[in-house]
Amino acid sequence: MDIRSFLYVKKQKLSRYLSLKLSRNRTFTAMQLMLKTLETNQMLPQKLIALELFGFIGTSTTMDYQDLAEYIEMWELNPYYAAEAKKNISKATVVCGNSIKAIKEGEVLRKDYNFIVIDPNSASTFDDGSYESFGVFNHTLKYIADEAVIFVTIYSNLKKYASLYGNSVKDLDPKWINARKEFFQMENVIDGRGIDYLKAFEKIIIDHKMNVIFSQFLNRNECVGFGVFVIKKNKA
Ligand SMILES: C[S@@+](CC[C@H](N)C(=O)[O-])C[C@H]1O[C@@H](n2cnc3c(N)ncnc32)[C@H](O)[C@@H]1O
Repeated sequence: MDIRSFLYVKKQKLSRYLSLKLSRNRTFTAMQLMLKTLETNQMLPQKLIALELFGFIGTSTTMDYQDLAEYIEMWELNPYYAAEAKKNISKATVVCGNSIKAIKEGEVLRKDYNFIVIDPNSASTFDDGSYESFGVFNHTLKYIADEAVIFVTIYSNLKKYASLYGNSVKDLDPKWINARKEFFQMENVIDGRGIDYLKAFEKIIIDHKMNVIFSQFLNRNECVGFGVFVIKKNKA
């Protein structure tokens, strides 16, 4: 473990504590708000059987739903983060390994997930050459129960994303931009409308002979959001 990872993990935990706990649970994360909305609309499974493909230490998503879950399987490549995840989410089965390979090759531990979270890193290409959720989204559909909810991270405004790191859009990896154009089948993949990014995921779901009962784009901050999909398998 290096000092940067150590400090990063401490910072993430402190920032969650300060923003949520000190507000005496009157502030919600985007995911918490969406979970409440799905629950009110009777679209959230009673007990979540959850698969989180890019777990980190659990502070930005897993902690939001852990109390609603009967089972949580978290995949995390970095052994230090995986060990922290196990401490933070005691009920989770944490697998330190490559979730992209696992979901493609059927190494995930169940076939009946009713809640899947895909919260990948942004610009970095994975070792299979894919970006964001593009290489895994379709594979997750092989491992869901008859009804399931999927949260997938969508980078919605790359101008703001780049400026967050003191860069401009011109500095972004052109291969990433091209991968986005191909996946989303959109010309403007820099600052398109949030809801327009949903269509590519919906098409994949429908191509798998499943119904999209509900979909929503939800901002997490000014440059990244979630696509949220409630899916039901077609009866054969
Ligand atoms: C954006 S973070 C996820 C945040 C997480 N959802 C949370 O609640 O804090 C992405 C994480 O995916 C991990 N990662 C990257 N490639 C991976 C892979 N192929 N398999 C599993 N984890 C991976 C990174 O180490 C990083 O911790």
